[in-house]
Amino acid sequence: MKWMLTGGAGYIGAHILRALHDQGHDVVVLDDLSTGLRRKVSEGVPFVEASILDTDSVTRALTDHRVDGVIHLAAKKSVGESVEQPHMYFEQNVQGTMALLDAIKAADVHHMVLSSSAAVYGSPDVDAVTEDTPTMPINPYGQTKLAQEWLVRDLSESGYDLSWVALRYFNVAGAGADDLGDTGVFNLIPMVLRALDDGQAPQVFGDTYPTPDGTCIRDYIHVQDLAEAHVAAVTQAERGGRTDIYNVGRGMGFSVLDVLDAVRSAMGSDFAHEISAPRAGDPASLVAAVNRIHSELGWQAQRDLADMVTSAWSAWQAFPPA
Ligand code: WQD
Repeated sequence: MKWMLTGGAGYIGAHILRALHDQGHDVVVLDDLSTGLRRKVSEGVPFVEASILDTDSVTRALTDHRVDGVIHLAAKKSVGESVEQPHMYFEQNVQGTMALLDAIKAADVHHMVLSSSAAVYGSPDVDAVTEDTPTMPINPYGQTKLAQEWLVRDLSESGYDLSWVALRYFNVAGAGADDLGDTGVFNLIPMVLRALDDGQAPQVFGDTYPTPDGTCIRDYIHVQDLAEAHVAAVTQAERGGRTDIYNVGRGMGFSVLDVLDAVRSAMGSDFAHEISAPRAGDPASLVAAVNRIHSELGWQAQRDLADMVTSAWSAWQAFPPA
């Protein structure tokens, strides 16, 4: 089967592209390069520069490349930015997915792997979140990711033959190679590295949460493990396997202070941090239950927090973000 990877020039997309390529899958990348980097799409991989909002261009690309399935990552993904610009987030993530689905129908494509997010759960009051935990997003980003799931599911249930899998990413970190590091400084580890580069103390957004050390707990997942989960999902979709939603995490929670200690170990530096005000919209704890993806897709994370931090630090030094 031939797959189109939207957002394949991005941090996560580029890892998925390399993992699929290494497994011999046939992939074409579509990306508008608004945040992705052209250098991340290796030579020899067909590349289409277009926005998912441009249904005619996407339909043409799907048809010209004889695409059978779409792995859909192209989206805006910063929680903070979504709070400041909700309309832009709904336009890019929801309207963009509607336009993409119109192209998928026009080009007679019948398989999809959808990038979703733990942000759809909002602030659940359970220790481990299963795929059946109620989805109550608390920011526009999470709302748009849930709306994407609804659009895909409802198209499939409307009678259009669409086999789909949705992957709810938890906190993605690390780098599978030095040239694939996260150059968008929106998440904890790159923000800590940026602060240290600037000679500043990394900021801990609140230490009065109902957690053991008072700081927020998250389920960090190595981006290479996440890429390998997509290979497993593609294999399932190619088998015409069941339509389902899967959490992608390690099933283990680490606090912000735990992550800072892991960065200190990786850097061999005992830097100080500062406690600042809690960030609006932050749940105290968000950890995945990952039984379903393990039992149904045979996938389990192989890498730990030290691997994430060490690889992120190595990539940061090799290719420092602008
Ligand atoms: C992690 C923790 C912060 C920076 C994001 C987005 C989205 C989704 C999941 C894919 C929080 C704290 C952060 C800092 C800090 N990914 N923090 N100081 O908000 O959990 O979720 O990842 O869909 O990208 O929803 O990730 O990395 O922003 O924050 O204390 O300088 O680190 O408060 O508790 P988040 P994050």
